[in-house]
Amino acid sequence: MLFVWLRTDCNMRGLKNILLWNLMAAVILLGQARPNVKLNLQSSSGLRSDCAGNLMRLSLDKALAVGNQLEVEAINGTQHIVLTPSLAAQCGYSMESDPWGNTRIYTSLMGCYVDNKDDTTFNVGLRLQMYGQNPSDVASHDVTQTCSYSRWASREVLCDRNYMEVSKHMATPDAGAKGQTQDVNDDLQSNTIPGASGAAHGVWKMTFFTPEPVAMVLMEAEQAGYTAMTTSTRLVMRSPYNTAETYSEDVAGVPMEVFRASVYYKAPHGLSVENLAAACPTGGTLFTEDVISWHIPRRVTPLVDGSFKILEMHMGINGQRLDKSQMAARGYTLSATDFHIIIEIPVGSPDGYYKSHAPDYQYHITYSVEPMLDVLWRGDNNQDDTRYKVLFPITTPLMPRPPQAENNTILEDRMFSVHLGTFLHDVVLRNITFATGVLTVEECNARGFAVQEHSLPQGRKSFSLQVPFDADVVLKHNPEPLVTVYSLPLIFAFLILPEETPFAHPVDLEASLRDVVLPTITGTCDMNAFYIHVKYGSQGSSFQTMVGPLQLSPELGEAYNLKDNSTHLSLVVPYQAKATVFEIINSDSVRARLDILLWDPINNWLLGDFYLACSFPLMTTNCYPNGTMTALAVKVESVPNLEPSLLTLKDKSCKPVFSNDRFAYFSFSADSCGTTRMFFDQYMLYENEIGLYYDSNKGAYTSPIDPEYRQTVSCYYVVNETQTVAFSYKPRSNNPAAQIGSGQLMVQMRLAQDSSYEHFYEAEHYPVVKYLREPLYFEVALMQSTDPQLELILENCWATLHEDRTSLPSWDIIVDSCENHDDSYVTIFHPVVSDARVAVPSHFKRFSMKMFTFTKDDEVLKDEIYVHCDAVICDTNSQADGACRGQCAHRTGMSNSRQQGIKVKREQRSTDSSNQRQISSGPIVLLNPQSNF
Ligand SMILES: *[C@@H]1O[C@H](CO)[C@@H](O)[C@H](O)[C@H]1NC(C)=O
Ligand SMILES: *[C@@H]1O[C@H](CO)[C@@H](O)[C@H](O)[C@H]1NC(C)=O
Ligand SMILES: *[C@@H]1O[C@H](CO)[C@@H](O)[C@H](O)[C@H]1NC(C)=O
Ligand SMILES: *[C@@H]1O[C@H](CO)[C@@H](O)[C@H](O)[C@H]1NC(C)=O
Ligand SMILES: *[C@@H]1O[C@H](CO)[C@@H](O)[C@H](O)[C@H]1NC(C)=O
Ligand SMILES: *[C@@H]1O[C@H](CO)[C@@H](O)[C@H](O)[C@H]1NC(C)=O
Repeated sequence: MLFVWLRTDCNMRGLKNILLWNLMAAVILLGQARPNVKLNLQSSSGLRSDCAGNLMRLSLDKALAVGNQLEVEAINGTQHIVLTPSLAAQCGYSMESDPWGNTRIYTSLMGCYVDNKDDTTFNVGLRLQMYGQNPSDVASHDVTQTCSYSRWASREVLCDRNYMEVSKHMATPDAGAKGQTQDVNDDLQSNTIPGASGAAHGVWKMTFFTPEPVAMVLMEAEQAGYTAMTTSTRLVMRSPYNTAETYSEDVAGVPMEVFRASVYYKAPHGLSVENLAAACPTGGTLFTEDVISWHIPRRVTPLVDGSFKILEMHMGINGQRLDKSQMAARGYTLSATDFHIIIEIPVGSPDGYYKSHAPDYQYHITYSVEPMLDVLWRGDNNQDDTRYKVLFPITTPLMPRPPQAENNTILEDRMFSVHLGTFLHDVVLRNITFATGVLTVEECNARGFAVQEHSLPQGRKSFSLQVPFDADVVLKHNPEPLVTVYSLPLIFAFLILPEETPFAHPVDLEASLRDVVLPTITGTCDMNAFYIHVKYGSQGSSFQTMVGPLQLSPELGEAYNLKDNSTHLSLVVPYQAKATVFEIINSDSVRARLDILLWDPINNWLLGDFYLACSFPLMTTNCYPNGTMTALAVKVESVPNLEPSLLTLKDKSCKPVFSNDRFAYFSFSADSCGTTRMFFDQYMLYENEIGLYYDSNKGAYTSPIDPEYRQTVSCYYVVNETQTVAFSYKPRSNNPAAQIGSGQLMVQMRLAQDSSYEHFYEAEHYPVVKYLREPLYFEVALMQSTDPQLELILENCWATLHEDRTSLPSWDIIVDSCENHDDSYVTIFHPVVSDARVAVPSHFKRFSMKMFTFTKDDEVLKDEIYVHCDAVICDTNSQADGACRGQCAHRTGMSNSRQQGIKVKREQRSTDSSNQRQISSGPIVLLNPQSNF
């Protein structure tokens, strides 16, 4: 960037003055409310004074600056004169401090209060007064310096920071002229001139050229801030910049401030008039990022006319000349063109200083340096030399230096790391604003966020910060289920010292990691419940749990024995709980399933999905010997809209004895509710069906409304002589599975004690003893069943000699369900009617016969018989053939021929009929009167 300050319309003199007075004000106590540079003069080790040509320099190190205000006084013998900015500019003093308190005070050897011995020896006295916070706390230090300077050019022009000064050797005609004075106006004689030794000689009036002439007497000029005086050999005039009687002029493109005057003075030899002029640059600087170029007109036209040559040309820094090697070491150049003398200074040279600024809260820097030009001209036609010395503080324009954030984050370390720089040494990091609030540097470090300051070359610095991803100041979000984006918005707040100017710099860090571990679900079952375990993933317990269709609430958690800690949760869900579904029901078990779902309620993401299906023991159908059937219907998953309370058996008036939203419990007797009965080879089957049925007045059972739901309830009764316990299972492909229960159907044959059939021989009475031809009353009964539609039919009955029912000889008693009419020991069926013992008469058959013996060749073979029957159980409604048409109902004719005798051979009896039961009596013994008597 190039800043051209040449040929600019702005008032450069004014600019320079403002700059200077701001700096001055920082040093000198003016009674104004301004920030004060702080100095502590307890020791003089930080004070250094020396002489630099026509100047005395006093340097104060910033090490002395400790919380105080400085006042500078000029010491004139016993007098102390407080130097205000205007008095300093009028009297040849200038002061400048850098922001940290390094201060230089220049005193012109022609200054008002300098003790001047013959313009060769100069005693400069300054008192530095330190005022602490407490007004009584004052420290002062006197500095005196004697400078010798005799190589005065006939004209010396000094451009200091706050004033322009010109001094000129006074013409000394001849010694005899001493004491002679020209006639002057007496009324001006009384003006006293500082530095003049009385009215005998001195300046008494002057005319300024602005360029219009303006005449003033000395007193008026002094009141206007000018100095005009004589020393033993020289006439001196001094003007601050930017006064009414100075003017600006552009010289070779460089803005200059000019003051010119004709001075009337009384010299020892008489009254003289001298023309004096000073011209000082107020601009002429050019900037690039790297170089400051300072242009001074080669020919300062207000000062020189005619031709001249440059005898000497020096560059200096801070009022001190540099030699060629010093300049080369620092990269300074001093050159002259036809129009300009040019000084070039690299930006950043150690003779100057950088300073941080924050206009509009943005970080900027400037570089300041104070070069000096010291030139000696000699006019071609006379021996009058002119020394021209310019002290010219230069500060670059504000240079933006937006801090650069370097992202050093290493994902594997799960740590944000940022480096922020570069700053000058006058910047301190105060605090950092995180998403959660502001933390000072100390608080950051205390919380484990390492804040470090790094020193860089050339007094620069940078800062670094490290924050773990898991810190609470880090924001996290998940753009997708397995990815976490960590973000760390930061605002670094800085202060520029010593002014405490704040500025800030935001930095946004972000890192994305595929680091999400999802929760895991496991489960087991026992006979009663599901046991679910959830192990949290990296997101902790920040998920919602669905147990079946229900969201896990605190109440549900209590019902399901929720236990959780920082890493796990567990649930115990009974298999009949609302959260489960029934997949399949079997006669002795139900298969239930529990679905567990973990989801992120914010993003609606499924985080975990688990189901567990187990079979739990449950008898859904029970078949009791007394004919009672019970069935449990459950709402299975495949029929979601079922309302169990509306289920009925085929007879829709048979409703559940108990129901809730998932179960319906039926209990009914086998002869009711539309139960059907079927006979098979080995068993008898009762069946009903649970479903939703249409209303129907026809008495006929209709199809279920919902064909999806049809639960068959079946009971198999296996008929056994004494007892039958059997279970059959008939698988069905459709859900719900058929419910097949089992039962026992017992047929019993007993011998009654008499025809009343009230008392029977019990087991312990056998063998029962009977006389020959004594009636034997048998009763065969279907035990326990209450089904009135069943009929017990005695198909065949016969007697044998031995227990083995197939043994021979045998004698038929009932043949093809009818009495054996060949039998002379006539067999008689006895009707059965209901009574206390007989609930269903068709379940009973009674017959009697007469006791007989088997004989062979008229010899009694054995006095013992066994009676056996084949019984069948029939459906009274069926139109069956054979035995089931009824006891002896099929008889076509009657044979009256009866035979008495012994059957020696029995036909093999068919046993293909499954509902045929075989029953036998115990031994019945013939009481032989012959043998007894
Ligand atoms: C400075 O001191 C000298 C001698 O002590 C005295 O003549 C002169 O008036 C003083 N000047 C001022 C401005 O006080
Ligand atoms: C943080 O520091 C800045 C100075 O850079 C200051 O202005 C601000 O008040 C500080 N904030 C807090 C909360 O301390
Ligand atoms: C910072 O660095 C990390 C790790 O290299 C990277 O993932 C991230 O995108 C970078 N950028 C920002 C703005 O944080
Ligand atoms: C949390 O519970 C699980 C079992 O449910 C156990 O294994 C684990 O150790 C527990 N953790 C803590 C921190 O108690
Ligand atoms: C049949 O037996 C079962 C089981 O013993 C009993 O609960 C039920 O009440 C009985 N039913 C009748 C009608 O006796
Ligand atoms: C009848 O029941 C008994 C006892 O349970 C058994 O031993 C026998 O085999 C059964 N008979 C038939 C025909 O089922």
